[in-house]
This record gives sequence, C-alpha cells and structure tokens, in this order.
Amino acid sequence: MSVTTRYRDAWEGFWQEAPDEQGAVFWDAEPALTVGVHLPLFEPHLAAPGLPFVDLGCGNGTQTRFLADRYPHVVGADLSAAALDHARRADRAGQAAYRLLDAAEKSEAETLHAELGDVNVYMRGVLHQCEPGDRQPLVDGVAALVGERGRAFLVELAEAAGLVLRGLAQRPEGPPGKLAPVFRHGIAPGEVADDAVPEYLRSAGLTVFASGELPLVTTECLADGSRIELPSRWVVAGRG
Ligand SMILES: C[S@@+](CC[C@H](N)C(=O)[O-])C[C@H]1O[C@@H](n2cnc3c(N)ncnc32)[C@H](O)[C@@H]1O
Repeated sequence: MSVTTRYRDAWEGFWQEAPDEQGAVFWDAEPALTVGVHLPLFEPHLAAPGLPFVDLGCGNGTQTRFLADRYPHVVGADLSAAALDHARRADRAGQAAYRLLDAAEKSEAETLHAELGDVNVYMRGVLHQCEPGDRQPLVDGVAALVGERGRAFLVELAEAAGLVLRGLAQRPEGPPGKLAPVFRHGIAPGEVADDAVPEYLRSAGLTVFASGELPLVTTECLADGSRIELPSRWVVAGRG
C-alpha cells in the first residue's frame, strides 16, 4: 500500500513553500537539542554500528547532516521531492545521500534494503501524522529496512501533544506563525495513540529494546519567550 495522493501532495506543498533557513520550520530545532540527545540513547543498542544509517522521513535534512558528521554512510529518505531539494541544498559538502522513498510502500522499502542491506534507522516525527491506514505499513517499512541486524530509533509526538497542538490552533489570535502552514497544508500532527506504537512494532516483527519520554523541542516560542515543547516518546526496536 502506498500513501494517498492527498497525503503526498500535502507534504509536497508544505515543503515547496517552506523557507530554506534553518529553524524556519516548526519542528526544525537544532540537532544539539534533537538527534544529538537521541543518539546517546540509541547507540548502546546498536548491534552493528557500522551499518548504513537511514534518516527516514528526513524532511529538510537538518538531523541527517548531524548524523552524517558522525557516521560514514547516511541516507536521508523522504516522500517529498521538495523536502529532498531543501536537504540537498543545505548539504553543501554532500555528506549524505538522498532518496525519494515512500516508506509505507513495501516494495520501495524492500528495494532500498536490497541495495543497502540491513540499516540502522532514525525516524523523527513521521508516524504521528501519517494517515491511519499508513501507520502499520510505515512500521512494516521500517522493519524491512532494519532486516536482521539493524535497529530503529523512533521519536514521535505523544497523544498528549495532539491536545496541545489543537489548543494552539484554536487560539483567538491564531496558531503560532510556524505552525500555521502545517495545518494549512492539511497535515494533522499528534494523532497516534500512545499504546498503538508498540503494537505496530510487534505486528511488524520487531522487539522493543528501550523506550522513554522526552519533550520534542520546536522552533516556536510562547508570548513569555519560552520554547514550545511537545510531549513525545522514543523507542528503540529491532528483531529480537
Ligand atoms: C514532521 S516532518 C519531520 C522531518 C525530520 N524527520 C525532522 O525531524 O526534521 C515529517 C517528514 O516525513 C515525511 N514523510 C511522511 N510520510 C512519509 C513516508 N510514508 N515515507 C517517507 N517519508 C515520509 C514528510 O515528507 C516529512 O518530510
């Protein structure tokens, strides 16, 4: 199953309009506050640290470039060609490779796996806003990519973040500036039930090795100047 045209168009439209500057996109926080915090949680669980790294749903590649500073073979993969254009433009040294991929399409994940072999997967903020019918296929795609030896680190908005986001969307003054385009393009964040994530992983044949909670740091501030942080959860999974 592949994603609907509506969903793909929503992301394509979002990224076509998104500015290039780092931090202009709602979730595009500095890597030191995001993947830099996640790697120390992930690395102790890597069975094979030498495997290629895939940043799945890499968007404009901010986190991909951080990974490419640390790992020799990094691939940023995304559903949106416009997202990958941003990522390639920002990667002036060409440290990572980029790939158009619908991870919810089994044959596409299997093709990438056939090319790279087992990989370690980093996935930040992809599952929590995909459409209900795409959730299990997306996690199945992760399982196809990690194969026998790879591990996956997923960090996704918790259910509670959906409430916070809907509250921000309904403010009388409107949503914060960087959140408005997300809703305008028909992207619905924070929609996945917390209990559903381990179920998707189990159904995909993956075992959860570790998990925890962490705030997802955004690039927007409240009126008092504090950063908007959203409840999120992380999980490390792989074949048992
Ligand atoms: C909220 S953004 C997060 C981007 C990046 N991971 C980050 O943390 O900055 C979600 C990204 O996932 C991509 N995406 C959504 N569904 C996907 C799918 N089925 N396969 C590959 N990428 C997908 C979108 O195009 C978008 O760039």
